[in-house]
Amino acid sequence: MFLKSISLQNFRNYTKSEFNFDKNTTLIIGPNASGKTNFLEAIFFLSRGGSLKTEKDEQVVRFGEEIARLSGLIGEVGLEVIIAKAGGERSINQKKYKVNGVSKKRIDFVGNLLAVVFSPLDLDMVVGSPSLRRNFLNSVLEQTDIDYRKNLLEFTKALRQRNALLERVRESGVRDERQFEYWDSILIKTGTVITKKREELINFFNNSKKDIFDFTIFYDKSIISKDRLSQYKNAELGAGVTLVGPHRDDFSLHMFNNEIQTTHDVKFFGSRGQQRLVVLQLKLFELEFIEKKLSERPILLLDDIFSELDREHINLVLEMLGKQQTIITTTHRDLAEGGFLKEASVVELVSDGKI
Ligand SMILES: Nc1ncnc2c1ncn2[C@@H]1O[C@H](COP(=O)(O)OP(=O)(O)O)[C@@H](O)[C@H]1O
Ligand SMILES: [Mg+2]
Repeated sequence: MFLKSISLQNFRNYTKSEFNFDKNTTLIIGPNASGKTNFLEAIFFLSRGGSLKTEKDEQVVRFGEEIARLSGLIGEVGLEVIIAKAGGERSINQKKYKVNGVSKKRIDFVGNLLAVVFSPLDLDMVVGSPSLRRNFLNSVLEQTDIDYRKNLLEFTKALRQRNALLERVRESGVRDERQFEYWDSILIKTGTVITKKREELINFFNNSKKDIFDFTIFYDKSIISKDRLSQYKNAELGAGVTLVGPHRDDFSLHMFNNEIQTTHDVKFFGSRGQQRLVVLQLKLFELEFIEKKLSERPILLLDDIFSELDREHINLVLEMLGKQQTIITTTHRDLAEGGFLKEASVVELVSDGKI
C-alpha cells in the first residue's frame, strides 16, 4: 500500500496543506501542538472514514469553519472525505465519501487505504472502557472484511430500534413478543457473525509469535441467541436496553508470571511500560493480520513513539521500517540526523499546521 499524497483543508489546525510522500519512511518533526497527531489523524480518517480520537467526527472541522475536506491518492485511487458540522449548510449529510470522484457509503469507502496507527491514545485501550477494546476489534475487522462491515452496520441499526422498543415497553409496562421477533432475529443473525469473526481475530493474535511482549487475550464474549435473550427478558425490561450481544463484548490482556506460573491482567497489574508494549504488540499483529487477509501490507503510522518507548523497543520498531510505508512523528529534531532515520524524508511543521 502506498499513500502518494494527501491534502487537508480546514481539518483540525490545518487551513490548507498538501503533501507528497516518498515510498520510504517519512519523519514529521514539529514542536508540541504543531499538528503532528492531527496529520496522522487525517490519514486515519481517510482509512476508516472516522476520527482517531473523538466520538464526534465533526470535531475535526477547524474552529470557526463549517466544512473540512481531506483527499488522498493511493496508487491510482483517489479518496475524498467531506466532513460538515451539524447545523451547517450540509447538516443532513454530515460526512460524504468519494472514491475516484464517485460517492460511496462508508462501508464501501473503508478498505481502500489500509493503515495501522500506534499512538499514545491507544494506551487507553488497555486501561479504559470496554468500548475502546471493541473499537479496536472493529477497526481491524472493518478494514479487512466487507462482510463484517455490513453485519456491524445492520446490527447497530437493529440494536437502536430494539432499544427504542424496550424503552417504550418500559414506559407502558406492556410487552408484546411479536414486536420483538423481527429485531431479535436480525440481532441474532448479524451478532453471531460479528462474534465469530472477532473470535477468529483473537485466536489469530493468540497464536501469533510475540516479539515484543508475551500475553494472552481472553475474549469475554456476550453471545446473542434466542435462549439468552429470553433469559434476560425481565432484566431488559427493567433496564430498557438490550443486555446481551457483541455490543457488550470485552477482552482482557493477560501477561505471564513465570515464577508462579500464573497470568495477571495487564490492566490491573501491568506497568505503564508493559501496557504500552502490549498495545504495540497488538498493532503489529494488526499489520500481520491485514497482510495475511488481503495480501497487502498496510501503511504504518507511528505517533510520538520516541517519547513513548524505551530504546530497545524503539529499535525493534525501527527494524520494521523497510517493510511498509511508514510515517513517524516526533518532537526531537536530532532523530533525523543519525541512525536508522538517515534515509527518511523529513517534513517540518513550523507552527500551527504550517508545513
Ligand atoms: N477542530 C480544530 N480546529 C482548530 N484547531 C484544532 C482543532 N482541534 C485541535 N486543534 C488544535 O490542534 C493543536 C494540536 O495538534 P496536535 O496534532 O495534537 O499537536 P502535536 O503536534 O502535539 O501532535 C492544538 O493547538 C489544538 O488546539
Ligand atoms: Mg501529538
